[in-house]
Amino acid sequence: MESVKIFSEGGHEFVWLGSGDLEAEKGVPSNQYAIIDGGEALLLDPGGYHSFERVFANTTQLVEPKQIRGAFLSHQDPDVVASIVSWLEVQPNMKVYLSALWERFLPHFALPVVPDLVALPDEGATVALPTGARLRMLPAHGLHSPGSFQVYDERARVLFSGDLGAALVPPGEWSLFVADFDKHVPYMDGFHRRFLASTKALRALLKRVEGLPIDYVCPQHGSIFRGDDVKRFFDWLGTLEVGFDYRSWGDP
Ligand SMILES: [Fe+2]
Ligand SMILES: [Fe+2]
Repeated sequence: MESVKIFSEGGHEFVWLGSGDLEAEKGVPSNQYAIIDGGEALLLDPGGYHSFERVFANTTQLVEPKQIRGAFLSHQDPDVVASIVSWLEVQPNMKVYLSALWERFLPHFALPVVPDLVALPDEGATVALPTGARLRMLPAHGLHSPGSFQVYDERARVLFSGDLGAALVPPGEWSLFVADFDKHVPYMDGFHRRFLASTKALRALLKRVEGLPIDYVCPQHGSIFRGDDVKRFFDWLGTLEVGFDYRSWGDP
């Protein structure tokens, strides 16, 4: 599927970067997004090695390669980070945003040096874009990584939620936007209970986003929540017990 602009106004865009052939791209089906502002692109969770070709082609339909100025990595997982080696070959001076906790693990992806690595402190950061739009890199620790961040795009009113909201949707049933929330819940349930660290971490995130005007929640896997489904999604998270608060995995 081609890219889809989720928001586009006044030189600021939030774009879903399409999908490819599931067989060819291997691994867990993942979403990649770009925020385009003033003609510059920031990638959100650029993805695994096998999806690079498609994500690069779709991004460069929107901006010239030299205008790809940064990549935000919500956490350390390979489905988020592995393509960064290829991106840095194209654009060696791009900024790479990642939790300070994971900075020393990047070399294990066979990266030489990242000249412009922004190691995010636990409390997060605010980034100003060329048009004056602002991004808030919000702490989401424990959801699921000990050093996780989400991005709230104030202008587009979009929350990029990383693995929160991730769904494993059977291939024939996937749609870009959630079509039927109740039907979507079982596709999210198992991942959230097993991978999220604790209910306390989840409640902290809900408190953090409470009151933010959010029109879309865009996760790294599955479908996008919009309109009333945004509230339904947060309400559903509020009912969950997760991680070791849910059960002790592996105990007899
Ligand atoms: Fe992950
Ligand atoms: Fe993921």
